[in-house]
Amino acid sequence: MGKTIIISNRLPLQINISDNKIEVTPSVGGLATGLKSFHQEGDSIWIGWTGLSSEEIPEDLQDEVEKKAMEQNCVPVSLTTDEIERFYYGFSNRTIWPLFHYFMEYTEFQPEHWEGYKTVNKKYCEAVVERLDDGDTVWVHDYQLLLLPEMIRKKKPNVTIGFFNHIPFPSYEVFRTLPWREEILRGMLGSDLIGFHTYDYERHFLRSVNRILRHDINFNSVNIGNRIVKSDSFPMGIDYNKFRDAALEHRTKPRSENTDIQKKLDYHKYVTRNTKLILSIDRLDYTKGIANRIRAYGYFLEKYPEYQEKVRLIMLAVPSRTNVPQYQLLKKEVDELVGRINGKFATVNWTPIWYFYRSMPFENLIDLYCSSEVALITPTRDGMNLVAKEYISTRIDNTGVLILSEMAGAAHELNEALIINPNNFEQIVDTIKQALEMPEEEQIRRNKVLQRRLKRYSVEKWAEDFMTNLKNTRKTRKAFKTI
Ligand code: ADP
Ligand code: F6P
Repeated sequence: MGKTIIISNRLPLQINISDNKIEVTPSVGGLATGLKSFHQEGDSIWIGWTGLSSEEIPEDLQDEVEKKAMEQNCVPVSLTTDEIERFYYGFSNRTIWPLFHYFMEYTEFQPEHWEGYKTVNKKYCEAVVERLDDGDTVWVHDYQLLLLPEMIRKKKPNVTIGFFNHIPFPSYEVFRTLPWREEILRGMLGSDLIGFHTYDYERHFLRSVNRILRHDINFNSVNIGNRIVKSDSFPMGIDYNKFRDAALEHRTKPRSENTDIQKKLDYHKYVTRNTKLILSIDRLDYTKGIANRIRAYGYFLEKYPEYQEKVRLIMLAVPSRTNVPQYQLLKKEVDELVGRINGKFATVNWTPIWYFYRSMPFENLIDLYCSSEVALITPTRDGMNLVAKEYISTRIDNTGVLILSEMAGAAHELNEALIINPNNFEQIVDTIKQALEMPEEEQIRRNKVLQRRLKRYSVEKWAEDFMTNLKNTRKTRKAFKTI
């Protein structure tokens, strides 16, 4: 039995350097937070980027950066500023990301970004091949590395390769607009098994393979001539016990040990006589429907004025992809909207929105999950959305209401949540009211079902399922010839 090599654009750790000192913090985002538990428990190495360009790491600190990463079995791939610009901010986040989330108007097709994407995928390939032994299993993640499976396959034809796509795969009509559609599909088909969060994403992918590459599809198998490639859906779960245990600890810990945020939350609940809290947590991304959510909340306060001073929206947004113009515009729009609503409705005792634009330590996330009566999650498209699952898992007394967009992959599994269409403004507004007024017995009934499901299909189970299916593909694999 060989080792597993995990490869993703970003490592689960983020390196920062200030005053010639290295600081290591956890990465934010579904992939990193989800897969970390699988990595920590197994015999795997993780190859990826530290979040810094090679120019930002002084020469005398390079070995130390590697050492720090290796302490967590991580291998950094070094990317130059130019590579990051063309590969990460360019093709990954100005082409694939908007296109796969149906933001056609944001999608750019720039040949120099495509070139950068190929170069960096090759770089990752070299880093993998250097460490690859016979019998190892390779697990490639996400849309930044769609070409990698084929690249590895060409160098190591007999290795077992899995690929998991963490974002939606769009319908054929959208995907076909990509000038490099054949190359992308061939890249993915270098794998033995390709995983998606939902059955719909998988069907979209198979249809594109069939229409664009003309390969025969038999149920979920693609016949590429010299090999069979399998696809399947594996909805990613969370580390349920980790969130549950943290929430239990949160409940039993003495008040004196509370974090500053928790003290503030308690204080405000006390002075405002139990204002209810509505929570939203995301990376600041246009796919998350943040601006519309704020507008809907403002309209809610207008339509149901009896809720003024009785409710507060806590909005946590983590800075993301700040070099991409649409993210900068969104930041501006969100700042303005929050200012406008706070300006319009605030009283001496009450601010309608508390807005934090930063990452927060795990402990504070737990404070927020545990203290909020409602979670409001409204993406216009989202591959999965783990925040929805994290919120439910921390509700120790089973109360709390999850409002969730039907456009999130998670909605397929979380039917007992209040499911909304993120473009239906009136529906969001009325659902907020419904959530705030839902009887406790109903909350408990819904959450018990959700929690059972989340506990059963945890991130460990997800990884185990994928790996078992990947290993089974070995039995059916035929010798590889170049496609
Ligand atoms: P995405 O992968 O698109 O970022 P997910 O909802 O699937 O979205 O995952 C986001 C992850 O990042 C969650 O595990 C969540 O706890 C974490 N996270 C989101 N916002 C913050 C924040 N401000 N501070 C710390 N962690 C955050
Ligand atoms: O959800 C897609 C995704 O790439 C995740 O896999 C990742 O955790 C998140 O977006 C964060 O993105 P970035 O690495 O660009 O900050």
